[in-house]
Parts: sequence; C-alpha cells; structure tokens
Amino acid sequence: MAKITAPAILARKGGDKIRMVTAYDAPSARIADRAGADIILVGDSVGNVVLGRGDTLTVTVDEMVHHTAAVMTAAPNALVVGDMPWLSYHTSVEETVHNAGRLVRDGGAGAVKLEGGRKRLPMIRAILDAEIPVMGHLGLTPQSVRAMGGYKVQGKTAALAHELISDAVALAEAGVFSIVLEGVPDVLAEYVTREVDVPTIGIGAGRDCDGQVLVFHDVLGLHDGRLPKFVRQYARLADVAAEALEAFFADVQSGAFPSDEETYHMPEESAQILRDLNLRADHLMADEVMER
Ligand code: KIV
Repeated sequence: MAKITAPAILARKGGDKIRMVTAYDAPSARIADRAGADIILVGDSVGNVVLGRGDTLTVTVDEMVHHTAAVMTAAPNALVVGDMPWLSYHTSVEETVHNAGRLVRDGGAGAVKLEGGRKRLPMIRAILDAEIPVMGHLGLTPQSVRAMGGYKVQGKTAALAHELISDAVALAEAGVFSIVLEGVPDVLAEYVTREVDVPTIGIGAGRDCDGQVLVFHDVLGLHDGRLPKFVRQYARLADVAAEALEAFFADVQSGAFPSDEETYHMPEESAQILRDLNLRADHLMADEVMER
C-alpha cells in the first residue's frame, strides 16, 4: 500500500469515511497504522495525554517535532499530520512558516494542522505557499480554552453557527485539505459538511462528517478519569496492563520469574569452573573469619 497523501484525503470528500486517530510515539503509531488509520495526528493533546499536563498550552514546537519524528518511524501507510502548538502560528507569518517547516523537515510530517478560522487565514495561506498541506480545526479548539472560558461545545446559537460556517468556507477556499470539527452540534457539522468541498473530520460533532477522529488513549482505555461524552472506549487496556504487571511482580516475589528458559546458560564445563571458584572463595572467606 502506498503512503496516503493530503491530496488523496481531499479526494475522499463524500466517499469512504476517513479514519483518523492520534499517536505520539512509535509503538502507538505502529498499532494505528497496522489497524488501518488513514491519518495519524500527532496532536498537541500530547501535553495532557502523555506529558501529564493540565492543557495543551505549554506544548512547544520542539516537543511536537520530537513526537512527530517518533511517529514517522512507524507509520508506513498513514498520512502523518503534525499539530502546530499554541503561539507557533500567532505572532508572524515568517515564524509560522518556519515552525510549520520544522514539523515537516525535522519531524517528517506530511501535513500540519492548526486551530482557528478567518483570523488565521494569512498564516494558512503562507504555509500553503510554502507547499505544506494544511488541515484546519474549528469549533471547540483547545488552544482557546482561556478565551472560551472552558472546554465548551461551540456554535450552539444560530449566530455562532453562522460564524463557524463562514470560517469553514473561508478555510476551504484558502485550500486546506480537510477540517477537523470538534465539539459542535451534529446539525451544524452536517451543514458544514454539505457546504464545503473538503472533507470534515469530526470529534464530538455527530455522525455526518466525512470522517472521525479520537485520541488513541481514549479509544483504548489507556487512562483513568472522566471521558468526554463523545468518546467510545473500545478496550480497557489500562486494566489489562495493570493485571499483567501485577502478575509479573508476583512472579518476581515468588521466584517463578525468570524460569530456566528465560535464562542465559554457558557450557557446563565453564559453569562448573565458576561454581568451584565460588566454593573456593567461600572457603577463603570462612578461613579469614576464623582467623579474626
Ligand atoms: O490534539 C489533538 O488531539 C486534536 C484532536 C483532538 C483533533 O487536535
């Protein structure tokens, strides 16, 4: 199978649903790729999910490059999208292109994603001019958590919905290859999906988007705690992992691990010489104690 590209995702508009999941390191990327992900997003959610922070705002470009490069080593098929962290595309067009370029050149990403609508258009156009495909992200944009006053569903009134639709149309016209719609009512996501000619990828946006994305650790039940309403947990791997580790620790305690098969051996002749040496050392130590 050939590596999936941004134009190939764009061509999926209205066709087969696009399957996207986050990943932040090589083992998770390998699993996602093997399971058939079309897109692996190295999300700035790495801040909360993997680095144990309260939000995504502290994530840096260096950290995103580091995680994107790890994912790239293990995703032979999926398109890898690197998330642009907060303040990496807000201060100037030059800095924005430089940072997007770092995700591609140093991280190996096939595209970048950034949050926001019309007010980000100059930055989006500049990245596109640098030949880097861009994925948009509208609705509940976690980097705006302070401005939104919390993680709240967006676009719930007709006026706000209208703003979001105008943002989506503007992004599509600028040339993004897809748009993530996060935390918006299903009717609004459906409207946007019909209105724009690029694929929409929903997370908490109902079933009518052109694709869906979830966070790797949420889908697999890799962490405890309250999950958003839109998450469906397909496994509880944290429980499976804890049980496996408990079994390992119990075997260590009882001496059942390692077994003979899990141990390196040397030829019996050499082993015997070592045993004899040990015995002699024991005798020497015992003689020394007697002399004292
Ligand atoms: O960072 C992230 O994981 C995301 C997805 C939730 C879309 O932006």
